[in-house]
Amino acid sequence: MKKRLFIKTYGCQMNVYDSARIAELLTPLGYEAATGPEGADLVILNTCHIRDKAVEKMFSELGTIRRLKHAQERHGGRMVVAVGGCVAQAEGAEILERAPFVDIVFGPQAYHRLPEMVARAATERVLDTSFPAEPKFDYLPETSATPGVSAFLAVQEGCDKFCTFCVVPYTRGAEYSRPAAEIIAEARRLADSGAREITLLGQNVNAYHGLSPKGGVWGLGELIGALAGIPGLARLRYTTSHPKDVDDALIAAHRDIAELMPYLHLPVQSGSDRVLAAMNRRHTADQYRRTVERLRRARPDIALSSDFIVGFPGESEADFRATTDLVRDIGFAQAFSFKYSPRPGTPAANAADQIPEPVKADRLAILQALLHEQQQAFNQACVGEVLPVLFEKPGRHPGQLVGRSPYLQSIHAEAPAERIGDIVPLTIRAALPNSLAGAIAPQSPSLDGVAA
Ligand code: 5AD
Ligand code: SF4
Repeated sequence: MKKRLFIKTYGCQMNVYDSARIAELLTPLGYEAATGPEGADLVILNTCHIRDKAVEKMFSELGTIRRLKHAQERHGGRMVVAVGGCVAQAEGAEILERAPFVDIVFGPQAYHRLPEMVARAATERVLDTSFPAEPKFDYLPETSATPGVSAFLAVQEGCDKFCTFCVVPYTRGAEYSRPAAEIIAEARRLADSGAREITLLGQNVNAYHGLSPKGGVWGLGELIGALAGIPGLARLRYTTSHPKDVDDALIAAHRDIAELMPYLHLPVQSGSDRVLAAMNRRHTADQYRRTVERLRRARPDIALSSDFIVGFPGESEADFRATTDLVRDIGFAQAFSFKYSPRPGTPAANAADQIPEPVKADRLAILQALLHEQQQAFNQACVGEVLPVLFEKPGRHPGQLVGRSPYLQSIHAEAPAERIGDIVPLTIRAALPNSLAGAIAPQSPSLDGVAA
């Protein structure tokens, strides 16, 4: 009998990848994806703990699930409720205590044991937030689901950097790099099933140092070099990187490998050396500027994206100005910025000099206005240009498709559905706040005979 599975995913792309793997893992047990929690046999919340009121948000979501579960039970049905991801890792038994209707709590490194946990849940409540000695990847089935045009592939997990604001080293555990042969095999399967683009994922993806097929160790640059030859794969990306781990091989990959897209998400967090030191980021603002210069020399059109935290404990007006100065110096194509949010158990949460909320809000508004201006300028500069766009899916309006430029801009254009999966030259007609409008460019003689 088919059973219905609903997974709600919060947070980063790694959680999106994990949710897809969890769904695959449960398919042999008869679970099929449901579009909502109503009537589901198994509901999984894959949670995120990085910022804000993650715990409260999760408990409020669980309130809704509890009502559905009880309604189902009144009709003789049964709903198994599981909480996974980083809040599960951080809160563990506390969740079972506060939410008696939750059947399973599991951490991000334990989800390969879900089939067994689901079976056990018939008779007992299950908690598994262990960090197993053997990586979960060894126990996951091969990817089987059909990927989209653009697929994720986890190559590295966990983090050993211990930035003082961040929960990741505690929730995801120590750094682990998958062996390159395993990654290449997964990438081939994705390409064979129709993926044209793969984004390599890791909490600290450019700290990748995996076993090479010949027995040595590869960094991310070498891994990208090996993946670039896979038939069908037209584009490679990777996220998220740490400035300190941008090495020569990775910069060379941006220069030499056509499949590697000219876009890099390289979080800097702050432009103040004092704040960077207090964050334990292990680099200065000038070292970041120099890294960007080297990347731009290797790949002049590379578009940069970043993450910023404002209102980190002790951040002065001068520190904040150093951040806006850095933003002006670099010029970002896109960026994410956040108010510092104290995370329980991290060193900065206990710092005495916390910044008042209104100051954080003011600084965030100033920074976001500046970043928004830069994003607009970057998008506006593309108007009139022809960009190769990989069409991924139907757009919002009939007859439209959406895809991405090399610089990760979302672009929509009128195009027939059979062009999904193709890389098509589009003339950019207009820059909207979060996307571009394009039109299929007339075939120029120089493009004739060039395979997509
Ligand atoms: N407060 C605010 N932002 C945070 N981030 C991580 N931890 C915190 C925190 N405690 C941001 C960082 C990171 C991004 C994924 O989330 O900018 O790069
Ligand atoms: Fe968190 Fe990234 Fe710092 Fe690791 S490098 S602790 S994941 S912010």
